[in-house]
Parts: sequence; structure tokens; C-alpha cells
Amino acid sequence: MGFEGKAAIITGAARGIGGEIAIALAKAGADIVLVDVLPQEEIDAAAKEIEATGVRTLALKADVTSMDQMNEVAAKTVETFGNISILINNAGITRDSLALRMTDEQWDLVIAVNLKGTFVATRAVMRQMMKQRAGKIVNIASIVGVMGNAGQANYSASKAGIIGLTKSMAKELAARNINVNAVAPGFIATAMTDHLADNVKEQMLAQIPLKRFGSVEDVSRAVKFLCSEDSAYVTGHVLHITGGMGM
Ligand code: NAI
Repeated sequence: MGFEGKAAIITGAARGIGGEIAIALAKAGADIVLVDVLPQEEIDAAAKEIEATGVRTLALKADVTSMDQMNEVAAKTVETFGNISILINNAGITRDSLALRMTDEQWDLVIAVNLKGTFVATRAVMRQMMKQRAGKIVNIASIVGVMGNAGQANYSASKAGIIGLTKSMAKELAARNINVNAVAPGFIATAMTDHLADNVKEQMLAQIPLKRFGSVEDVSRAVKFLCSEDSAYVTGHVLHITGGMGM
């Protein structure tokens, strides 16, 4: 499948979109490093499922906001697999509130995990990728980083920031044959979106030309493409996975 012998680090990999990306890359033959802040047992359980596909895994509890912890993740990956070929910056959180009521903590936490975490993890792996003169980095942004969304000033700013970061890193790393792209999913059915009220879900559905919510597989297939040699000439791009919402 073209991913054999390649190690992929996926942040926020214990469940949801990150978990599905991990499975998709494993099925394509990549060795998988799952990074998450959830309890170690939950990360181990996700890793076990992936090992069933026949690839090797590392299940690491680490916080993407910590440079030390992410440097440790990078070091363990190189020690175990001898390379870091792919980084998926997927870890992300929401702390929704109208701006009038948003606390400093809500603002700071979302920017720290979503935006700074993406930069920290990128910085942790880029030296190794530069040495290899090869690498694929895919950042999970969001369509609200393009369109904005009432009640998500912190989240949409973090995702718009990821889009700017993606383009800057694409320019900085292009000379070393490292592709940096982002995907901007729309409404994807996961734990993050489960708790939304039914009337909010109906309003969202009305804005989606393809008339359905996205699945985690819709996202993982696009991410796999951006990690493959089929997209070798694509960098600094933001691929919308939205069923047409926000075009
Ligand atoms: P999720 O909440 O199911 O999974 C996120 C994972 O990230 C969790 O396992 C969580 O423990 C982990 N995580 C959180 N903080 C972390 C930290 N500091 N360090 C390491 N790991 C951490 O969410 P979901 O829906 O799977 O989202 C994944 C990504 O996709 C996020 O970046 C999200 O913003 C983005 N996204 C999701 C959409 C959706 O509709 N579900 C739409 C657009 C983007």
C-alpha cells in the first residue's frame, strides 16, 4: 500500500477522527504512534485494535501543549521505528461560549491545545523529517476556521491560525521535501458533536449541499491521500471535507 516501514504519529488518536485516521494508515501499512491525554488504558485499547491489522504501535500518553513531552514522543518514535514519516496534528478541544461570556481560561485553553499544540508537535518532528528529506504533515483544521461560527470565537480563531501555520510551515519545509497540508472538516459525527442539541444539528444539516453529516471515514480517506505519494505535488493546501458546506 506504500506506507510500509513508515512511522506515523497521530495526536488525539485514542478515539474519534484521530482514531479512525490511525486505523486507515495502519491498514495501508504504516507503523502507528498514538498520542493522547486520556488515561493510558484507553490509549492502549486503541493501540490493540490497530495491532490487529498487523502493524507495530506505540501508545504514548502525552500532552501536545508540552514541548518536553512531544520531544519525548519524537525521540521514542525514532528509537522504535527509525523514522518519522507522517505527523497528523489532530488533537483538539472546544470550549464554546458567546464572546460576551467567554472566560480567559476558555480562550487560552483552546488556543493552547489546538493552535500551540499543532506548532509544538510540528517542531518536535521537523528536525527528523528535515534529516530524512521526506515527510508529510497534515493538520486537522475546521471549516469554522474559514467561515467563523457564533459561540466559537476561540475555536474558530485556533483553526484559522492552523491554516496560516500550515501555509508558513509548507513554505519553510518545502526545500526539504516535506509536504504540509490541512483538512477542514465540516460537521463530522463524533463525541465532539454528539452533545449538540437536535435543533442545532438540523440547522447545520440545512446548510450541507450533500445533505448528510460527514463520517470519520470521510476525513481519514482524505488524510490518507495527503500522506501518500499520490499528493506529492500538493503542499500548503486546505482541503475542505464538508459535503459542500462553506464553498
Ligand atoms: P474527540 O474529542 O473525539 O477527539 C479528540 C482527541 O484529542 C481526544 O482523544 C482527546 O483526548 C485528545 N486530546 C485533547 N487534548 C489533547 C492534548 N492536549 N494532547 C493530546 N491529545 C489531546 O474529537 P474529534 O471530533 O475526533 O476531533 C478531532 C479533531 O478534528 C479536532 O482537532 C477537531 O477540532 C477536529 N474537527 C472535528 C470536527 C467534528 O465535527 N467532529 C469538525 C472539524 C474539525
